[in-house]
Amino acid sequence: MTDTLIHQAQAHARGREVLLHEPAGGDPDKLTLVKARGSLVWDEAGKEYIDCTAQAWSNNLGANDPRVIEAAIEQTRRITHARPTFHTPALLELAELLVSIAPDGLDRVGFTLHGSMAVEMALKLALRNRPDARHVAVLHDAYHGRSITTMAASWPHPGNAFGVLQPQFLRLPRPDLYRPRPGLTADQDTEMTLRIVRDILTKGTEGPVAALIYEPIQGNGGHNGFSARWHHGIREICDELGIMLIIDEVQTGLGRTGSMWASDHYGIEPDVLVFGKGVGGGFPLAGVLAKNRFAAFLPGDDQLTFGQFPISVAAGLAAVRAIIDDGLCDRAAAHGEYATERLREMQTRHPLIGDVRSPGLMVSIELVRDRVTKEPATTEAHAVFELAQERGVIFGESRYAGLGNLIKVKPPLDISRDHLATALDVLDEVLTEVEKTAGTRTGELS
Ligand SMILES: Cc1ncc(COP(=O)(O)O)c(C=O)c1O
Repeated sequence: MTDTLIHQAQAHARGREVLLHEPAGGDPDKLTLVKARGSLVWDEAGKEYIDCTAQAWSNNLGANDPRVIEAAIEQTRRITHARPTFHTPALLELAELLVSIAPDGLDRVGFTLHGSMAVEMALKLALRNRPDARHVAVLHDAYHGRSITTMAASWPHPGNAFGVLQPQFLRLPRPDLYRPRPGLTADQDTEMTLRIVRDILTKGTEGPVAALIYEPIQGNGGHNGFSARWHHGIREICDELGIMLIIDEVQTGLGRTGSMWASDHYGIEPDVLVFGKGVGGGFPLAGVLAKNRFAAFLPGDDQLTFGQFPISVAAGLAAVRAIIDDGLCDRAAAHGEYATERLREMQTRHPLIGDVRSPGLMVSIELVRDRVTKEPATTEAHAVFELAQERGVIFGESRYAGLGNLIKVKPPLDISRDHLATALDVLDEVLTEVEKTAGTRTGELS
């Protein structure tokens, strides 16, 4: 080893120990990534992986797409930073493009760099338009981010240390399509939950509710979907009570579900839509789309130094154009159908698979120890994740959220069919192995 390599290795080891976000002494399981292309990533030992996480479901367009990289380099040469009191050409072009592909009626757009800050922007817009409001409503098992406010808008954080600085959100129950309340079908659970939500919003609050925010499919909370009836029912309640409906599409937007927006897929009519992740083509970018009828922000309401970071915006412009030009919504829909079909077939052979979820490439399986009791197979899910990673496929897991028993298959939307097939083959193999040791009981498919 040369001196430079020795110094580098020592710096990496020290770096692992001092990172504030790691357990003391470092996380030995964490890979150090050195390269990414499309749906592949490589670690520092040169090992190649198929990345079925798209890096926190953000690389909807595969990693390091040359069009995005060129746009970012070109922007870097011209101007890297412009504070929000100035425009840049890419900012104006991306604003125009996003409004042109937004669900009907969303004809204003604001930018920031993180999904959490975009959710906060949406909440500010709601309160700016309803200054007398006393509440904002969220759903059980929601995830809206990790800023102090958006943590409060998400599921109760385990061992929450931040409460002193957090607002109280009105947490509303949600229906559960896989585990409906005892004695109810999924449809009946949805009807009942809509009635409870209406009761809480009319009789359970002091003062007006400014907004209700929810994810069309709850991502980090466990890939919990909703029926079309739920989405329409919530729209009706919001209309009746004058509540702004904010749809958080940070995870579901930009083609992930096989449509540009999950709102298009389910026919949801948001007043405000929050986007993030896939919009930046791998660069930090997020924002909101809103109906014109809402009063815009006043100067100073929502200005962050790097909120419209030109390099992110230029990368985002190239990424959104590429998602459209490459027909990635259709690719996601077709890949999703293929993956779902294969997983359903695996479900007939693997008792661990309790449920298969989609649409598009928002794919996951829920692992259970028993299909009747639906007991979450949490340790088994982690074993599947670890074995697959050893074999060169990184799946998403839900270690910190929901029931902790999901395996997520959410690669870039332009993954090749071969890579997707290989990833699913590996999943099949490791499920067989984990089932051998776990001794899972079989049960009827529900
Ligand atoms: C639905 C949803 N909203 C908001 C966020 C927060 O985004 P960020 O991590 O970019 O702040 C996330 C991130 O996972 C998300 O899934």
